[in-house]
Amino acid sequence: MSPAPRKIFVSSALPYANGAIHMGHLVEYIQSDIWSRFQKLRGHVCTYVCAADAHGTPIMIKAREEKITPEQLVNRISKEQLEDLRAFGVAFDNFHSTHSAENEELVGRIYGALRDAGHIYTKTIEQAFDEKEKMFLPDRFVRGTCPRCKSEDQYGDACEVCGATYAPRDLIAPLSVLSGTTPVWRASEHYFFRLSAFGEKLRQWMARASLHQNITSKLEEWFEAGLQDWDISRDAPYFGFLIPGTNDKYFYVWLDAPIGYLASFLHLCRQRKDLDFEEYWGAGADTEVYHFIGKDIVYFHTLFWPAVLVGAGMRQPTSVFAHGFLTINGKKMSKSRGTFVNARTYLRHLDPNYLRYYYAAKLGPSMEDIDLNLDDFAARVNADLVGKLVNIASRCAGFVSRSFAGQMSATLDDRELFSRFAGAGEQIAGHYEEREYSKAMRIIMSLADEANRYIEQKKPWLLARDPARQADVQLICTQGLNLFRTLMIYLSPVLPMLAEKSRELFREQPWTWQSAGEPLLKKEINEYEPLLVRVEASQLERIIEESRESNNVPTNGPTDVPSNNAETPQITIDEFARIDLRIAKILKAESVEGADKLLQLTLDTGDGTRNVFAGIKSAYEPSTLTGRFVVVVANLEPRKMRFGTSEGMVLAAGPGGKDIFLLSPDSGAQAGMRVK
Ligand code: 2FM
Ligand code: ZN
Repeated sequence: MSPAPRKIFVSSALPYANGAIHMGHLVEYIQSDIWSRFQKLRGHVCTYVCAADAHGTPIMIKAREEKITPEQLVNRISKEQLEDLRAFGVAFDNFHSTHSAENEELVGRIYGALRDAGHIYTKTIEQAFDEKEKMFLPDRFVRGTCPRCKSEDQYGDACEVCGATYAPRDLIAPLSVLSGTTPVWRASEHYFFRLSAFGEKLRQWMARASLHQNITSKLEEWFEAGLQDWDISRDAPYFGFLIPGTNDKYFYVWLDAPIGYLASFLHLCRQRKDLDFEEYWGAGADTEVYHFIGKDIVYFHTLFWPAVLVGAGMRQPTSVFAHGFLTINGKKMSKSRGTFVNARTYLRHLDPNYLRYYYAAKLGPSMEDIDLNLDDFAARVNADLVGKLVNIASRCAGFVSRSFAGQMSATLDDRELFSRFAGAGEQIAGHYEEREYSKAMRIIMSLADEANRYIEQKKPWLLARDPARQADVQLICTQGLNLFRTLMIYLSPVLPMLAEKSRELFREQPWTWQSAGEPLLKKEINEYEPLLVRVEASQLERIIEESRESNNVPTNGPTDVPSNNAETPQITIDEFARIDLRIAKILKAESVEGADKLLQLTLDTGDGTRNVFAGIKSAYEPSTLTGRFVVVVANLEPRKMRFGTSEGMVLAAGPGGKDIFLLSPDSGAQAGMRVK
């Protein structure tokens, strides 16, 4: 009798609902999706959830800038995020939101339990306050000069130049990012969670949780330094849940975010009879719970989160799996280099299977960063997926369709070879289980080499010319197709879309892991259709070109003035129609303090006024611009800059410096006219 299926809960970190999914995010979603798909393929009950991380100051500010409610912003962005993730084959069982009734209910339950058990207290603290915007400022909303190395324009919590960490109050000449004014320090009562009381419980959890050595070492460091109580409240205005019993204190986004994992699960449990919330999250639950996260949020998931759960009398995660960051071509993703690539930009040019495979081929269980080297990406995808894997099917399927009416033979040509492929299953499964995906991919690709060698030796294309050897051709091709099929089943957690197409070729029901060990014989297959094409260098070049800062953010410097580039990719008339070009009148033009290239323009766009920053200072005296008509991109996503928010882009041409030429319409044009 086979053992009872495991009951497994899997989450990936909740994406903040204020930006697009990019290549970096995808490392995590692809890693966790592979694991969840693998568990399901093995026959376990695995539930994979995620949600929009909806709360916090950045989302509140962004919504304010767009003149919409935070709810509207969260709905729009999380819908786009989910579409992008789905296009990459990420198959959550549920995607919910932290701004949901289920989350509010669970936050209330957990907070209530913590408070009743004496784990919460209040204390008055001093915090930066922006008198112009009338709000307290999170550390990252204060910038100034680093107290240690004196680098200018550093965040309020850490210096990006020398790595020093400090409080916003330590900054020299601090300024509010929101208004540019100097913040004052105001007292406010905050709510604290007594993390310091949980050292022993956390050590016990750490011993049970079989965490990767990378995480255990971090935890040891933090224990060594001493656990600090955690400030879980924020003052109004804030987008979040009110703390019960107050009318101007909100739960800090990081208190309700991980509870969002449970909220998404609860939301699902309420739709599905086969899932019971308490069976997974009640005290003493013996189901399995795993969180996939990035290395930057280990602290939240291995200290605050298990301690909150202990304090609230709930079960703690079985383990937490942390991955490293993504670099592209060996460097941090960068907008100016064009390597800050959004999921959508990638999808316009390339098949998502490529990226899933490439990440899998690089991923292991550690927190090491992974590099997406674009040349290596093309070479590896072309060699492994096209040259090795798909090649097996394309060399065999045609013969079966053409000469045998799609019929596969009743036996295999080389049973022993097939058994070796089947026998590798447990080792490959072991690697998936341990998140050693790169090891699993290596074994699978070396089996693909063997399959190709087999076909090479048997040369069905030569035998096919001999009428007496037709049965052999059928046997050999049936063997080749079975080897391909077994490998495709092993790869289906990584390449679900490709596996689906392959399964259709074989006209089969959904595969299980076991299917890989059972050959498919005496069956009719469908006509073979090409499964995957090669990656071309030009596709990668276009992705980089489209991701360059100059192509997707407001003009903010001479390098961003569009150049006359013969290689600019063509766009369709529909793509062009999406750009809202309008005539605008410059009502005011001013220099921007601290910016040598920018002018701040107040524009009349016919439907109101807008603030736009344009990198044209080197060519224009601000006073000469007032009253002038220009062409603007009116539906460009607003962009927060250091000096304020830019709400469009003014079109100009020229190489830069004194040679920047604003596009001006003929006289008679009026603000608000559409450019067609
Ligand atoms: O770091 C982030 O992007 C967070 N939005 C992750 C939240 S994960 C969880 F705790 F909700
Ligand atoms: Zn510094």
